[in-house]
Amino acid sequence: MRILRFLRSSVSIGKDVDYYSKFSPSPLSMKQFLDFGSENACERTSFSFLRQELPVRLANIMKEINLLPDNLLKTPSVRLVQSWYVQSFEEILEFKDKNADDEKVTYDFTDAVINIRNRHNDVIPTMAQGVVEYKEAYGTDPVVSQNVQYFLDRFYMSRISIRMLLNQHSDNMLLHIKIYCHSCGCLSLLSVNTYLCLVDAYENARTLCDRYYMNSPDLVLEEFNVAEQGNPITVVYVPSHLYHMVFELFKNAMRATMELYGDAIEYPAIHAQVALGTEDLTVRVSDRGGGVPLRKIDRLFTYTYSTAPRPSMEASRAAPLAGYGYGLPISRLYARYFQGDLKLYSLEGYGTDAVIYIRALSTESIERLPVYNKSAWKHYKTIHEADDWCVPSKEPKDMTTFRSF
Ligand SMILES: Nc1ncnc2c1ncn2[C@@H]1O[C@H](COP(=O)(O)OP(=O)(O)OP(=O)(O)O)[C@@H](O)[C@H]1O
Ligand SMILES: [Mg+2]
Repeated sequence: MRILRFLRSSVSIGKDVDYYSKFSPSPLSMKQFLDFGSENACERTSFSFLRQELPVRLANIMKEINLLPDNLLKTPSVRLVQSWYVQSFEEILEFKDKNADDEKVTYDFTDAVINIRNRHNDVIPTMAQGVVEYKEAYGTDPVVSQNVQYFLDRFYMSRISIRMLLNQHSDNMLLHIKIYCHSCGCLSLLSVNTYLCLVDAYENARTLCDRYYMNSPDLVLEEFNVAEQGNPITVVYVPSHLYHMVFELFKNAMRATMELYGDAIEYPAIHAQVALGTEDLTVRVSDRGGGVPLRKIDRLFTYTYSTAPRPSMEASRAAPLAGYGYGLPISRLYARYFQGDLKLYSLEGYGTDAVIYIRALSTESIERLPVYNKSAWKHYKTIHEADDWCVPSKEPKDMTTFRSF
């Protein structure tokens, strides 16, 4: 009886996933997130939007998970992640026909949102573990690696977006902590003082660096507020996202500096510059840690690529300075999520500039969301054909014929 019920429920879940995956996710602008958090917005509006939008975002990415190679889907870690998605999807659907005017319903919904958020806390390391298990068992093949990179970028981006919705709903409904936002004058949780954020991230990265190397480079921080010269820079943005990005960049800059300067008594400082223009807020973190050759720059954004030793299980209790190979790719997703970007420019032999671009206007910061459609499907199914540019090969053994030209 129990098995039959399970089979029936998994069939109907499959149908629901199919149904919701046919809708495209609706990207929100930072301005809309602000309005959700403003005093006029109510729990009912947020509830009505989320009970439709969350199943759509979940279903879109659940369909894409199914396109992964079978052997990757069979790893215990990926199965676990899938089970979390199915459970959360089911829990949200329970609110499909409930009365939005009933306070008990919206209260229970907020509870469900918090449970889902907690359930999905470990999605990133668990999915990463699945990829490691798969690579260990089946080795790496370039087509699969390319597909996995494509998938992880979209999967983690989807997760960032779902978490943003869950966090905004629960924070707005429960905490009622409102911060004055200088850029638009409203009350909001989405306001960042860049100076304070960078100093905080630097201090925390420095603690890790000191623990590992017994020393750390200093920070020289400058701000250029073009619009309001001399004033501190405040931007409408998600504080935890900016913090995450600069923390990762500081850790990388510190490690490169310390590795290059070894036992020196003094190290070249890390320079950080923040500029607020009319379109962009740009943050540059520059180090003199020896840089990276151009040939390798793209590789640094590959998940699990790291030149640091993999942190051991015992050491994992104390956060490591580097080693997972997730710092750059995930930070770039955060930057791209609201239409920004993260780029590395390196002078090999000297140092690296890492630059974060963020949209200065809250109306321009619009979510960038993956959608499950035929183009996405083709990415996984198309057999990758030969490159349409010549691949440089070794010099032909006998060059005499060419030289005579
Ligand atoms: N500023 C830099 N200078 C030189 N090399 C860098 C710099 N930033 C990143 N790298 C190289 O890029 C690799 C990947 O960086 P990434 O931050 O993604 O992972 P990681 O630092 O190794 O581990 P973690 O996920 O813990 O951050 C690093 O291992 C390092 O080799
Ligand atoms: Mg790193």
